[in-house]
Amino acid sequence: MAQIAVIGAGYVGLTTAACFSHLGHDVVCADIDEGRVAGLSKGEVPIVEAGLDALVKEGLEEGRLRFVLGAENAAADAEFAYLCVPTPQGEDGSADLSYIETAARQIGPVLPTEAVVVNKSTVPVGSTRAVERVLGRDDVVVVSNPEFLREGSAVHDFLNPDRIVIGSDDQSAAVRVAALYIGVTAPIIVTDPASAETIKYASNAFLASKISFVNAIAAVCEAVGADVKDVVLGMGYDKRIGHEFLRPGPGWGGSCFPKDSKALVHIADSAGYAFDLLAGVITVNEEQFHRVAAKVRTMAGGSLDGVRVAVWGLTFKARTDDTRDSPALRIVGLLAAEGADVRAYDPAVKGPIAGLEPAADPYSVCDGAEVLVVLTEWDEFRWLDFDKVAGLMAEPRVVDGRNLLDKPALERRGFSYVGIGR
Ligand SMILES: NC(=O)c1ccc[n+]([C@@H]2O[C@H](COP(=O)([O-])OP(=O)(O)OC[C@H]3O[C@@H](n4cnc5c(N)ncnc54)[C@H](O)[C@@H]3O)[C@@H](O)[C@H]2O)c1
Repeated sequence: MAQIAVIGAGYVGLTTAACFSHLGHDVVCADIDEGRVAGLSKGEVPIVEAGLDALVKEGLEEGRLRFVLGAENAAADAEFAYLCVPTPQGEDGSADLSYIETAARQIGPVLPTEAVVVNKSTVPVGSTRAVERVLGRDDVVVVSNPEFLREGSAVHDFLNPDRIVIGSDDQSAAVRVAALYIGVTAPIIVTDPASAETIKYASNAFLASKISFVNAIAAVCEAVGADVKDVVLGMGYDKRIGHEFLRPGPGWGGSCFPKDSKALVHIADSAGYAFDLLAGVITVNEEQFHRVAAKVRTMAGGSLDGVRVAVWGLTFKARTDDTRDSPALRIVGLLAAEGADVRAYDPAVKGPIAGLEPAADPYSVCDGAEVLVVLTEWDEFRWLDFDKVAGLMAEPRVVDGRNLLDKPALERRGFSYVGIGR
């Protein structure tokens, strides 16, 4: 079993640390956030992620998982140091590598001889080499091992991945990294570092394209009188297409797709290729936020000025508390900019966000509302008491941005219902 340092205790770092410790390794996980480190050391997991609490508790109790402040304090005994720090969007759309560089600078002087530094953050092509330069260590190899987990099922995805990608020109380092995944059954693909880095961006860009494609098809459905639910069902049975990611909605968002798709356009551009297809995908997504806001305006009778709007869902998708680059927040912003009085509820968002104070329950936001908008696909929204909702609202009108609710059942209760692409 190996000694692993994980730098960054966010969605990816904490999942990586907890899962590697579950697989039997000794893991020290570092963050720069003192409160986060103190809480985690007591088993308090700061994010909503199924199964993560149990694995953190298990690791702490069995002495295979520790949390420390500062990357340098995790790396001194590490055979492997996993970089799981943010790579946010820079001003020109490129990925900002400053967190990666800082972390590499911190661990460079303390890493033991022959350690392997593993980049799990999503980084542009060439970053493996950049980290090598910052580390300034001839005896330390840098390997790319991009992460494909989905928030909401991060632990499951880490332990049951579709594939493990390892990018390295050093075969023995690649084999050592592959061996860390003992107990995980998945195809392991070993490539050069540039290909591994590209696989991650290409995968996210493809998934974003699939969603934008189906949102565009939904717009066509609305124009020609087709029902997108039936259209995607018919498409999805084609094995070359598949059912996954064929759900129209309010647009894609979250901490990865927006920044990674822009970064890939930038990477391609810098390398001399104009990635117009992906630029179009991003434009379609931007339009989708406005299309949903327009549906709410139309439902309200043509103007949102002074209109009370109830919003269900603020996270970028269900089963996570992550609101980073959430389409729901973008749409709330557009509604508010047109003068709407927005009240919102989300089962996972408790504190103030984007000028909103989320309500404690889904019903109170409907009190006096003229339109209800569903923006996150939380399953529990489907099972609420819609007679009660209708009774509370000034007008029983729903814009279902996720095609989540039962349209005929709502219409039977007197609701006006508008979904996406139907
Ligand atoms: N969130 C996802 O679903 C997901 C999936 C795959 C890949 N990724 C990629 O993984 C990377 C991390 O994403 P995330 O969502 O976990 O980010 P995050 O913001 O949730 O967590 C990053 C953590 O790193 C800490 N940190 C920053 N600098 C540090 C340093 N020098 N030393 C120690 N800790 C430091 C921060 O305090 C924070 O807690 C990004 O590149 C992202 O694109 C994310």
